[in-house]
Amino acid sequence: MSKKRLCVTRELPEDVMQRAVRDYDCSLNDTGRPLTPDELLVSVKDMDGVLCCSSDKFDENIIRSLSGSVKIIATFSVGYEHIKIQVAETKGITVTNTPDVLTESTADTAILLLLAAARRAREALHMISSGNWTGWTPTQLLGIQPGGRRLGILGMGRIGCAVADRARAFGMKIHYYNRNKLPPNLEKGAIYHKSYEDLFSVSDFLSINCQMTPETKNLINCNTIDLFPKDAVIVNTSRGGVIEDSALIEALKSGRIAAAGLDVFEGEPNVNTGYFPLENAFIFPHIGSATVDTRNAMGFRALDNLDTYFSGGIPRDRLA
Ligand code: DGY
Repeated sequence: MSKKRLCVTRELPEDVMQRAVRDYDCSLNDTGRPLTPDELLVSVKDMDGVLCCSSDKFDENIIRSLSGSVKIIATFSVGYEHIKIQVAETKGITVTNTPDVLTESTADTAILLLLAAARRAREALHMISSGNWTGWTPTQLLGIQPGGRRLGILGMGRIGCAVADRARAFGMKIHYYNRNKLPPNLEKGAIYHKSYEDLFSVSDFLSINCQMTPETKNLINCNTIDLFPKDAVIVNTSRGGVIEDSALIEALKSGRIAAAGLDVFEGEPNVNTGYFPLENAFIFPHIGSATVDTRNAMGFRALDNLDTYFSGGIPRDRLA
């Protein structure tokens, strides 16, 4: 039987690529950058399936213009806001994502950002690496101790729960807002809030772990920032669009928000440059799931979904 034709939109980890080209007739993108919408349409032409990433926008236009041969879009990501699922559904295109496998590495990154922001890691690094450190003092770079403080988790799904598990080890008290209250075995004593406003008002720290949807867009804005306790720290490993950058930048400048640890940005890779000079903004270039183990697992999971689909089954991570 001839191999199915698969468009792989970005270079994936070596082991994943090897399996993809072993099992599929692959069209690869060797430009080292995301394809433009026009390039994407050309490279998916006559393909049976697409293995894409969160940097590829499958908006309504693109999906409607896809050739009829494309039957499945498997994204190498847990987030899927870059794919208009409803439109894919109307065209009978199956869409899958890669949940579960990046939970631990993303939760690790959230804690890394939380500690770095709270303990002024950016200033500390500059102080020592600039050669300007004049020695230990009792009052130098005093930060905020997470232990005993309240961590609000916005979106208590798999990743939110994994962040909570880690934060408990630091002695943090967990609060959360979610569409639904969790059962006690998942809640593990965390306090549920019926509204995000309530959650913000008790969040000495906030970890954003919700999906990007029209409801969560710009949830952190100049009005909601006022709800936070003094000296709050905001961490985002979800999607940049949950934060209105201009509002957070102003709040970091004025000290209304003590610090932020951010891995994701609206309009990536074009980060709002207002963050760059701010010593209390500890920022990363979207590396939440960037470990070899996790990225391999994401690729294998996406390929599993494709294999299942092409062998006539229902992929375990089917979204549409
Ligand atoms: C995800 O899987 O959604 C990560 O953010 C990478 O895109």
